[in-house]
Amino acid sequence: MKHVDVAVVPAAGLGTRMRPATRAIPKALLPVVDRPAVQHVAEEAVRAGVSEVVFVVDLGVGSLIRQHFTNGEPLEGLEDLEIRIAVQEEPHGLGHAVLTAREVIGDRPFFCLLADNIVRPGADVLPALVAASDGGSVVSLREVGPHMLDRYGVAVPGDRRGAELEVIGAVEKPGIEHAPSNLGLVGRYLFTSDILDALAGLEPGHGGEIQLTDAIDSVARQGKCRGVVGEHDLLDIGIPLGLLEAAVVLGLARPEFRDDFITFLRSLEGLR
Ligand code: G1P
Repeated sequence: MKHVDVAVVPAAGLGTRMRPATRAIPKALLPVVDRPAVQHVAEEAVRAGVSEVVFVVDLGVGSLIRQHFTNGEPLEGLEDLEIRIAVQEEPHGLGHAVLTAREVIGDRPFFCLLADNIVRPGADVLPALVAASDGGSVVSLREVGPHMLDRYGVAVPGDRRGAELEVIGAVEKPGIEHAPSNLGLVGRYLFTSDILDALAGLEPGHGGEIQLTDAIDSVARQGKCRGVVGEHDLLDIGIPLGLLEAAVVLGLARPEFRDDFITFLRSLEGLR
């Protein structure tokens, strides 16, 4: 795969795990340090060479996201980024959200970045996905503990060489009983348009929703999917503890207030 110029960011969802913060503010716009989740994710996409990001959102949220990117002075580093909005009219799941972007994507390869997950500073995974592609799709994986196997899609691994492997299937949230491996899908993907064809033909799966993992299973069974196992987990900002952790990790990575922040953290009772 040479170059990927477009990314899909599914950013719909009610944010029920972040209530009451999300009663009026969409979860995709909750700030982590000094910028909302959608900007962190857009910056990651731009670092990987993307010039166009398609946000898939609920009705009414698109204009807020667009305002964030276009109000006032252009955002530093994102001056040339084209923002597209695709509205998911009904909440039929992550797979359905990705399929909603089909008209904008056409037959181009695209990254998919889940807006609930933010990469740690210096731990980008998208370039490794491009490098591992032989022309087909590539998913980002991580070894997860047994108790996480009902929270992630899990890959069925084929031949493995170092961090790269053939993916021959995938199961959404199998749980410890049914997990085919401990390799969880961590929310970063490089897809070819095969995935959109697979999604278009899917019946509802786990939880009665159209599952992205089921489409990955379909292309994987055709021998068109690879995986890259990374070392770092992503920061899950869809839950309160994860949002707190993300603020600390991203805050510590900011040179302009890193030292003051460390002094503050050290001053806290119970941390000494
Ligand atoms: C989604 C996907 C799942 C993936 C996870 C990564 O689940 O359905 O396959 O492993 O994101 O965070 P969700 O977290 O939306 O329940």
